[in-house]
Amino acid sequence: MNSRFYITTPIYYPNGEPHLGHIYTTVAADTVARYHRLNGEETFFLTGTDEHGIKMVKTAAEKKVTPRQLADEMAGSFESLWKELQITNDDFIRTPQDRHRETVQHVVNRLLENGDIYLGSYTGWYDEGQEEFVTETTAKENQYKSEINGKPLTRYEESTYFFRLKKYVPRILQHIADHPEFIQPDSRRNEVVSKLKMDVEDLSISRASLEWGIKMPNDPKHVVYVWIDALTNYITVLGYGRAGQDELMKKFWPADVHLIGKEIMWFHTVYWPAMLMSLGLELPRTVFAHGWWTADGKKMSKTLGNFIGLEQIRTLRAQYSFDAVRYYLMRAAVFGSDLDWSDREFAAAYDDLSKKLGNCLNRVTNMTARYCDNTVPAAGDLEEIDRNVLAIAEALPAKLADAYARLALQDCATLPIEVVRAVDGYIEATQPFKLKDPSQHARRNTVLNIMARGMHAALVGLLPIMPEKAAAGLKQLGVDAGGKTLSDLFKNVPDAGHKLGEGSALFPRVETAK
Ligand code: MSP
Repeated sequence: MNSRFYITTPIYYPNGEPHLGHIYTTVAADTVARYHRLNGEETFFLTGTDEHGIKMVKTAAEKKVTPRQLADEMAGSFESLWKELQITNDDFIRTPQDRHRETVQHVVNRLLENGDIYLGSYTGWYDEGQEEFVTETTAKENQYKSEINGKPLTRYEESTYFFRLKKYVPRILQHIADHPEFIQPDSRRNEVVSKLKMDVEDLSISRASLEWGIKMPNDPKHVVYVWIDALTNYITVLGYGRAGQDELMKKFWPADVHLIGKEIMWFHTVYWPAMLMSLGLELPRTVFAHGWWTADGKKMSKTLGNFIGLEQIRTLRAQYSFDAVRYYLMRAAVFGSDLDWSDREFAAAYDDLSKKLGNCLNRVTNMTARYCDNTVPAAGDLEEIDRNVLAIAEALPAKLADAYARLALQDCATLPIEVVRAVDGYIEATQPFKLKDPSQHARRNTVLNIMARGMHAALVGLLPIMPEKAAAGLKQLGVDAGGKTLSDLFKNVPDAGHKLGEGSALFPRVETAK
């Protein structure tokens, strides 16, 4: 096991309010960060905002504010949202910060020193929504429109500095071949490899027609291309290129996971590695691309009225708790696949929590209070059905470790719930509430003991996914999760003599189901 762990989200364009897509990536990264922290690893989790570039300039103009005003206002929304949602990021980077400018200029200087940058002129297409240069072939294939948002491409003709991207293609291909874990999920690897084999030109990395950005250190009439600026964020926060401040760099680089949406895979698996190779730095271990959200099978859009924005998320949070939203997001699809928002599925997810998890926990606390003075009774001889439930509970830590290592986040959410289902089936099969005759009390004690142990394992396993609710559930089982590692918690099973806490409905029934 690693003793340190570094995970990042993309830094988001603050040209509008945060929405479901941003929340999804951030919750996923938060879940993984929490798991590693709970595992006792020194963990660094980074998110932030990507504030330069033409997209910000244009949105600001539409809103009749300056790019800086727009950035300040919206970056503030992102930062305060993560606080409101109790996201555990260790830093929040904003690209106009001094520390970032220093690191970016240092990076560009290093690329210049290596002879990897030259002055030329760019004539071609640009996708302003994606902030991406588009080759003639691709532009033509898509009728000169953006592949992502369908808007017309812009034609550029200007003098610009180029980065020798082509030179690094063979090394990147070799790296991908040697490190199957580098591009995840596996299904995304081929897209990158085939594009690398046909379509790579040197990369224009400066814009003379733009003022809003970080100046090229060798030529202040140009600003640095927004993606070179943005990708560098991952090492800015570690102090790279700033004398005497790179303590974190030594500790946390290379990153373990860059978590991103699938539309920005190319930047992270081609531009970024090439830059890192030129800098002589190691490449991140894994770039993991998740899928896109749609709603009821259609692309989310404000006009279609199926857009899941901040307001909806806040409403769901008020009705069901944010932990319920987190659980829904993580179980909604295999991590990496596209996802579809469905109110029916949300209700089904909430049923898992309310009718299964909450209900089973209630039964443990109620019956233990009623029959055993709120103290876990000793188990007698175990029957096969008892051993089966225990085996499922005891297998959970290893299964979760494997699922988190593979970033199989849907499994991370559902594996503990499978333990709950096993306990639920066990209660149905053993009917402890009917074991009233004194001759049956020993058996009832065994069943109550097993139920408590099963629910305990499930709740510990849910801590990264539903931090508040899982801790509250554990409290009802008389366990204080604060400051303990997962392995301590898993080991400290509530056995005979353990006093339970007070029971209450963990996921109350919600009348106004949507
Ligand atoms: N600023 C760049 C990233 C630079 S990283 C060095 C950017 N920003 S963005 O605001 O457009 O955010 C894109 C990211 O937000 C996606 O990669 C994904 O993580 C998340 N999502 C935005 N919309 C999404 C969906 N509809 N579905 C899932 N995730 C999406 O690109």
